Amino acid sequence: TRVLSVASECVPLIKTGGLADVAGALPAALAPHGVEMRTLIPGYPAVMQGIGRKKKVAQWDELFGGGATIWRTRLGKQVLYVLDAPHLFDRKGGPYGDAQGRDWPDNPQRFAALSRVAATICAAGIEGWQAQVMHCHDWQSGFAPLYLRELGGGDRVASLMTIHNIAFQGLCPSSMISALDLPRSGFNEKGYEFWNNISALKAGLVYADRLSTVSPTYATELMTPEFGMGLDGLLRERQADLVGVLNGIDETIWTPPYTDPAGKAAHRAALRAEFDLPDWPGPLCVLVSRLTQQKGLDILLQALPALLDRGGQLVLLGSGERELERAFLGYAQSHPGVATTIGYDESLARRMIAGGDAILVPSRFEPCGLTQLYGLRYGTLPVVSLTGGLADTVINASPAGLAAGCATGLQFHPLNAQSLAQALMTLVKLHADGPTWARMMANAMASPVSWEHSAATYAALYAEMVKTA
Ligand code: ADP
Ligand code: GLC
Repeated sequence: TRVLSVASECVPLIKTGGLADVAGALPAALAPHGVEMRTLIPGYPAVMQGIGRKKKVAQWDELFGGGATIWRTRLGKQVLYVLDAPHLFDRKGGPYGDAQGRDWPDNPQRFAALSRVAATICAAGIEGWQAQVMHCHDWQSGFAPLYLRELGGGDRVASLMTIHNIAFQGLCPSSMISALDLPRSGFNEKGYEFWNNISALKAGLVYADRLSTVSPTYATELMTPEFGMGLDGLLRERQADLVGVLNGIDETIWTPPYTDPAGKAAHRAALRAEFDLPDWPGPLCVLVSRLTQQKGLDILLQALPALLDRGGQLVLLGSGERELERAFLGYAQSHPGVATTIGYDESLARRMIAGGDAILVPSRFEPCGLTQLYGLRYGTLPVVSLTGGLADTVINASPAGLAAGCATGLQFHPLNAQSLAQALMTLVKLHADGPTWARMMANAMASPVSWEHSAATYAALYAEMVKTA
């Protein structure tokens, strides 16, 4: 099956979160299953500088306010199309906003352009290559299934809309309907309207043939008012078209620097040394995350004494909301067992996951979550809230889980400081119990976190979706 994957970030060129890891890993994971996936991403400066040899394969004189070129290049063995539209993407800052974290005011046009180009490539083909399925990720490619219909390609090319995070919906005022070249007839409750605004994500969820998200539990949660963020009704209506396919990790990128769990000791010592942490007896916990409301870090701050008072420690790496950054910096100053680094640093993230005994993911909601998967692979036991992909990937060290000898981490529920504190106390106890801890590490490292299973699931789904032979 020939698939065009449309994403706003992609490892190793540009990344703010897990979407980049997934978009980057899918093509190679799917290739052995008979899927030829090509990827389309915007030509941000980091992308234009990061790619190697490139060839011009298409051109627009006018794409939402300026000229645009599509370059074909390669990322490993995979074909990558880059949408080079300087008026939209050539600017300093992040993919979605400036250095201060303010969204670019023209984000609607920027990602409408990405979506329009994706739809055009699928409707008309590109350099003789005709996609059979268009796989859209998140709101940034949400208009693509609608544009595809408008361009008359909807009968031939199937579309799949994947929700990586429903908290980001790509809303903008209805006054932009014509600027975004949207059909006015779709601006209603059954179409892309969301409470009087235009919603890019809803457009994708209404007009795509199939819908997916990144874990089975999140798929179920999305259909409830608590998690659906206003789109749960629509998702319940489309339940038959919605599937949860668990993310995997790219094991060529995420390989522990040891095969034997005992190999972790040297990395733990190095991590303590790097952060000037004393050699306490308890578990050294790590956390790598965007610092946002979603990730439950305010709750962790309240629960931390339960860990620190029992000889545990925490190293945190993250960036995001200023208030959380300040809170963790302040906490580290007044607590010798805590170290905080504000910033984005892939290699530090790796050193932390290699050196930590446990990795904390106390999210309020988590569509899949990747850091707990890295933790499993590295024998760094995950302590996670019981939600979304966290519920699907960790086996709780409950008395039953321990008795069966299959536990890989700890899950806490409900999401509050008290139950997290309880889990941290349990963690300290398990850590002190050598044989049990060793068993859990071995279980974790043997957990199936690769793409193998999910790649087969996606391949079958695409094949089922194909509209013409
Ligand atoms: P989300 O996509 O919601 O941010 P995921 O767990 O799916 O959550 O993916 C987060 C990805 O971003 C992981 O690969 C994680 O290692 C990485 N990451 C997050 N924050 C940082 C940071 N400050 N430095 C390095 N990597 C980070
Ligand atoms: C989102 C989610 C995260 C998921 C990632 C990749 O950013 O917050 O849970 O792992 O997308 O699918």
